[in-house]
Amino acid sequence: MDLAPGFETGGLKLPQPDAAAVASSTRLVQAIVNRIASCGGVIGFNEYMHMALYQPGLGYYSGNAIKFGALGDFVTAPEISPLFGNCLASQCAALIGQGCAARILEFGAGSGKLCGQILRALPGLERYLILDLSAELKQRQRDALRGDLEPELFAKIEWLSGLPEVFDGIVLANEVLDAMPVHLLVKQHQWQELGVGYDGQRFDWRSLAPGERLLREIRDIESRRGELPDDYRCEINLNFKPWFSALAQSCRQAAVLIIDYGYEQSEFYHPARNRGTLECYFQQRVHSDPLIYPGLQDITAYVDFDACADAAETGGFEIMGLVPQRDFLLANGLLEGAQSLAADGGIQEQLALSQQIKTLSMPDEMGERFKVLAMQKNLTLEMPAMQRRGRYG
Ligand SMILES: C[S@@+](CC[C@H](N)C(=O)[O-])C[C@H]1O[C@@H](n2cnc3c(N)ncnc32)[C@H](O)[C@@H]1O
Repeated sequence: MDLAPGFETGGLKLPQPDAAAVASSTRLVQAIVNRIASCGGVIGFNEYMHMALYQPGLGYYSGNAIKFGALGDFVTAPEISPLFGNCLASQCAALIGQGCAARILEFGAGSGKLCGQILRALPGLERYLILDLSAELKQRQRDALRGDLEPELFAKIEWLSGLPEVFDGIVLANEVLDAMPVHLLVKQHQWQELGVGYDGQRFDWRSLAPGERLLREIRDIESRRGELPDDYRCEINLNFKPWFSALAQSCRQAAVLIIDYGYEQSEFYHPARNRGTLECYFQQRVHSDPLIYPGLQDITAYVDFDACADAAETGGFEIMGLVPQRDFLLANGLLEGAQSLAADGGIQEQLALSQQIKTLSMPDEMGERFKVLAMQKNLTLEMPAMQRRGRYG
């Protein structure tokens, strides 16, 4: 097959992937093309996104791409600064002080940076469990953390292949929900689902009749928020309900912190946001074409925090609050932590720390766009960082 399906970028100016990346992507393209053919010529975008991110050995998260940090495609908060992990550790210490078990379960641990930061900052932690969909990333986390951590800290980590039958402790998920495959919908008098086909040369968009569940969700949103205009395009994440339901079944006494970029529903489905929130990341460039570079670029959608909170409540969690990342970090010692790190360093370190604080907390960087949704099950924890407001009050 020629390489056109994945590599024709239209007007987009993107760097060219190297030969090994092109070869891997070409194999993934073939797998997606086969799947499209076996489904009669079109698959839902959610299935395309799932294959592009998680196809074993070939998907973006399951393949060899570097992904995180300055050499990768995007930078997450734990990659930016240890201050992020220190603030989370301080919140975890406060929860443990109120009777929550001293165990953490982290979903989607990326490079393993957050795990290392928290284990160092929280010596009283008994166990750190990691659950990641990507076998390749689990291996990288193991290698990196074995090299980084003292053996007694490394010995506290356990990689899981599924949810524990019973979990007591704190659950963390930083930038995990945005990496879950979404359905795409477009309104053309009626709601249509957007699927992906293949014209013999490249992937293209096709219309599909939306399934019952998808239609119910979008009509429910319109009945709460008002009718959306014609030509409106948006995403719906149908993974939240099963994900929170399975998590709630596993959690006996637990607190959960979900950290991600996203909006409450009034903003997410605002009539003016008529192109949705889907974004693709390739070598620190952001664009909106998920049909190119399959397996080589990240594809993400913002999180609808009201849908998350609804799914969590249905599963059996009590919502504790939703706050911008800036407020959460400031309430958990961002500035104090930076001062104490700065006291040990020279002028270069101090400048670097002040840049890191800006990136994590300024409204035009990660401070507002990223939010923290907190919930608990079978506990009566207090989290002063979660000023209650709106539906979360
Ligand atoms: C954008 S990365 C974030 C990595 C890391 N948390 C960070 O902040 O640097 C998304 C991660 O979530 C993982 N992931 C996505 N869906 C998941 C799920 N349902 N369960 C566990 N891990 C998941 C991916 O494999 C990947 O490691």
